[in-house]
Formats: sequence, C-alpha cells, structure tokens
Amino acid sequence: MKVATPQQVDAGQAIYNKYVLAAYDLLVLGISCQLLWRCPARKMKDHYNKFISNNHLDVGVGTGYFLDHCDFPSKKPRIALMDLNKNALRYTAERIVRYAPEVYCRNILDSISIPAENFDSVGINFLLHCVPGDFSEKGVIFDHLKAIMNPHAVIFGATILQRGVSPNWFAKKLMNFYNNKGVFSNQYDCAEHLKRELDIRFSEVSIEIAGCVALFYARK
Ligand SMILES: C[S@@+](CC[C@H](N)C(=O)[O-])C[C@H]1O[C@@H](n2cnc3c(N)ncnc32)[C@H](O)[C@@H]1O
Repeated sequence: MKVATPQQVDAGQAIYNKYVLAAYDLLVLGISCQLLWRCPARKMKDHYNKFISNNHLDVGVGTGYFLDHCDFPSKKPRIALMDLNKNALRYTAERIVRYAPEVYCRNILDSISIPAENFDSVGINFLLHCVPGDFSEKGVIFDHLKAIMNPHAVIFGATILQRGVSPNWFAKKLMNFYNNKGVFSNQYDCAEHLKRELDIRFSEVSIEIAGCVALFYARK
C-alpha cells in the first residue's frame, strides 16, 4: 500500500483559506453541486438529517454549512469538529458557537485519539475525494474513525466519484484541474471500491449515486 506524502496530504486541505471559505457555500455547495456534480446541497442536508445524532463528530468540516443547517434531535447536541486545516476549524466553530463544539486538529490519515468520549454518528461529507490515494489507501480513514465510534454508531457522508459516473464536460474539466492541483484525489474513485472498503469494516452499508456523487452510510 502506498503512503501519501506530506505534500499530497497538504494539497488536499491547504486551499481552505479565509477567502475560499467565504466563497465556498455559494460556489461549491450552491453552483458546483447543482450544475457540475448534479447532487444539490439540499440532498446532502437530507442525508445529514437522516443520520445525525446528539453525539456527533464531523470530519473535514469546511465551512460547517450542514452542521449549521441540519436538524439535530435535541437543542443541545454534543458536536466535535475535526480537520487538518485550522481556518476551517475556526470558521466552523464560530459559525456553530451556539453548540459549543469540541475542536480537534487532526490528519485523518493518522490514527486518531481524543481525550473525550466516543461518538454515535460521524459525518465525513466531501472529505474522501480530498484525501490522497485510491480507496484501498483511503480505507484507513474508516479504521481510524471506527476506533472512536460507539457500538451501533453510524458513519455517513458524500464523496465525488470520477469512475463509473457520467460527469458533464464542465465537471470533467474541473475535476481534472483539481486532481492536477492535488485539491481532489479521486481519479480512481468508484462506488464499488468505496463499498468494498466499507463492507470490510461495517455490517450495514448503503451507497446511493446522485450525479457524480456517492451518498453513503455504514453502521458498526
Ligand atoms: C471539500 S471540504 C468539505 C467541507 C464540508 N464537509 C462540506 O461538506 O461542505 C474538505 C474538508 O476536508 C479537510 N481535509 C482535507 N484533507 C484532510 C485530512 N487529511 N485530514 C483532515 N481533514 C482534511 C479540508 O481541510 C476541508 O475542511
């Protein structure tokens, strides 16, 4: 198995500076999701609402849009934020300050330990396509997260695929551009390989394809 270089890992998160974060909701979740990836943010919000718990860890938080807009089962959920990028952590923590989130700066490709209780739900929305390697290499992410999930906890999210889907001309161009820059690493990503990695580690696994996006969940 290949190990991602620090440069490859860095490229997957370095772009999220304060300017990119300020434009992210409109450009990525608004325009790109609707027109290029053909999976509207509304659909991902519905996915959050199905699986979010009152004891939730979100990894690869970006701007925290879904945490801000989804419906938690109670008014006082425990929420933890995990990301390698401190700008994203700060932006999201401020946005959902009403929930007093725990904040952890971690590289999800390294094994994870935190000085706190395990979680009942873990969201990894739009994280996997930013992490270097193919799914056999990215699979360690599920090992790292499984270790901090309670029995029967659920992991869920969405990821942009490049194989086995039909991106339009603009989507193909943008995906190639992002892959060349290292912002995306999804040139080998397909639903079968994602399912294989989830099946190895979880008992209940489901993947739904919407446009170029795989929406998935898996239970311990
Ligand atoms: C495309 S954004 C996703 C934002 C948000 N979850 C959403 O659905 O809109 C990807 C996030 O993953 C983070 N990230 C990328 N590589 C990472 C790594 N190796 N470890 C932890 N976080 C990482 C980035 O910093 C960024 O916040």
